[in-house]
Amino acid sequence: MEKKIIIAIDGHSSSGKSTMAKDLAREIGYIYIDTGAMYRAVTLYCLRKGYIQGDTIQEEALKADLDQMDISFRYNAETGRPDTYLKVEKETRSMEVADKVSLIAALGFVRRAMVAKQQEMGKAKGIVMDGRDIGTVVFPEAELKVFVTASPEVRARRRLEELQAKGEQTTYEEVLANVKKRDYIDSTREESPLRQAPDALVLDNSEMTIPEQKKWLRDKFEAAVCSSK
Ligand code: DC
Repeated sequence: MEKKIIIAIDGHSSSGKSTMAKDLAREIGYIYIDTGAMYRAVTLYCLRKGYIQGDTIQEEALKADLDQMDISFRYNAETGRPDTYLKVEKETRSMEVADKVSLIAALGFVRRAMVAKQQEMGKAKGIVMDGRDIGTVVFPEAELKVFVTASPEVRARRRLEELQAKGEQTTYEEVLANVKKRDYIDSTREESPLRQAPDALVLDNSEMTIPEQKKWLRDKFEAAVCSSK
């Protein structure tokens, strides 16, 4: 049997990395893990518990709950995507969560708990994991590392379409401001800031179609499997 590898896909929010990662995983029979969904699930949990007031988080309360928070993924044949713990997939994509998730993802104790879960999930390899720190912190030894980006305007348009399709009322300006705010928080935070691993392959897909991106990633995967033999 062919040797399984770890594929780390990092990049900016709404850069299309989840779509690429999910499609590749399905094609090659690997497990797909969306680590952003894990931070979103923690954020939703905090919102429901009332642990977030404005930009203030009740860290002690969250710390006490984090151990028993069982975040897992189960494949949903209907949507072709894994559902996140509590079946919160739809709600974790709301603007309310998007607005607070960077605050939660910046907490060191939350990151340590999530990274430990992610490393456990990748132990057997055969995994495509997307996030911000996968190639730098979670799996620095990944055989294939990709860093995906696109201009903020292109990403805001993509996210707006996604939100509108789900019936959320929002404007392009609001979404663009959110994309830029998250880029800023994600890349300037102290704990595991979003950065490109020195050995990552960069993909700017601003001007690319989805089939072009898929082909690009598939080619890189074939090459990585060949060179890791
Ligand atoms: O990929 P996404 O947009 O669903 O991610 C949601 C947030 O979680 C985003 O603000 C960045 C953060 N995140 C992170 O800090 N580390 C990861 N591995 C994945 C996501």
